[in-house]
Amino acid sequence: MSVTLVTGASSGIGQALARRLGCAGRPVALLARRAARLQELAQEIEAGGGHALAVPADVTDRASVQAAVETVEEGLGPIGCLVANAGGGEPTFVDDFDPAVFQATIALNVGGVVNCIAAVLPGMLARGNGHLVATGSLAGVRGLPSAAAYSAAKAAVDKLMESLRIDLRGRGVDVTVIAPGPVRLKASSKKTRLFSIGVEDAAARIERAIARRQRRSTFPLGIAWAVRGASWLPAPLYEALLAGRGRKPKRSVRRDPRGA
Ligand SMILES: NC(=O)c1ccc[n+]([C@@H]2O[C@H](COP(=O)([O-])OP(=O)(O)OC[C@H]3O[C@@H](n4cnc5c(N)ncnc54)[C@H](OP(=O)(O)O)[C@@H]3O)[C@@H](O)[C@H]2O)c1
Repeated sequence: MSVTLVTGASSGIGQALARRLGCAGRPVALLARRAARLQELAQEIEAGGGHALAVPADVTDRASVQAAVETVEEGLGPIGCLVANAGGGEPTFVDDFDPAVFQATIALNVGGVVNCIAAVLPGMLARGNGHLVATGSLAGVRGLPSAAAYSAAKAAVDKLMESLRIDLRGRGVDVTVIAPGPVRLKASSKKTRLFSIGVEDAAARIERAIARRQRRSTFPLGIAWAVRGASWLPAPLYEALLAGRGRKPKRSVRRDPRGA
């Protein structure tokens, strides 16, 4: 069985997915920056009779990703499936408009996916077989309030993968976009966001989408349908409905300029 490389495997959705795949007998390579967490998960999978290899790397660093992929292919075998899941981002505020937040969010969510694809795609093309999976978000369908960087980055992931799907047609490499809505990362979390789903449920849906080589998987269904509906709303109505609904900046404690 060919190897699946999961990025962002040290926590959240990536960790739950990698555990599922590994426990189901797929050889998995685990990539993220926190080496100890990856090692722990690799040991757990191996103890259950699976095959796993921890490859600590930073997806924004092309050389580090390339080196990790070489380590995986030497240690476990050719990578047949890439799950480019590492991502995330900070909110953005118009009163504190910081280009560094944009650059970091794009570098992680878009650059990270691109670096991983660049490292695995030549091998897949040479073998005439492979599967590229990337985690976008329902936040990429339309711009969300206080999420200018994140929405832009996830929209880019969507278009990047759609374009690649066209270019890879007939070359044996399938392309899947996972576009989740809110996922609760802690199993013990008492806080339930409306229409959110748990991380294990999300991982099970992604596993299914990979097995079926779906073009796109969006969940939870309630939010996915709401977002689909919102994509048909005229812009003035959409903007009016969402105005003022974003995250609020944390209040900084302002020091009295006189030092009092
Ligand atoms: N949770 C949600 O509600 C939700 C909704 C829609 C989409 N998503 C997407 O789902 C994906 C997984 O997020 P999550 O919710 O599971 O959050 P998470 O627990 O914060 O997971 C993010 C993962 O990405 C890794 N990562 C971050 N920066 C990295 C870097 N530079 N290089 C390598 N790995 C890096 C982190 O590991 P290290 O810190 O160890 O590097 C971690 O394993 C993301 O793409 C996120 O945008 C999440």
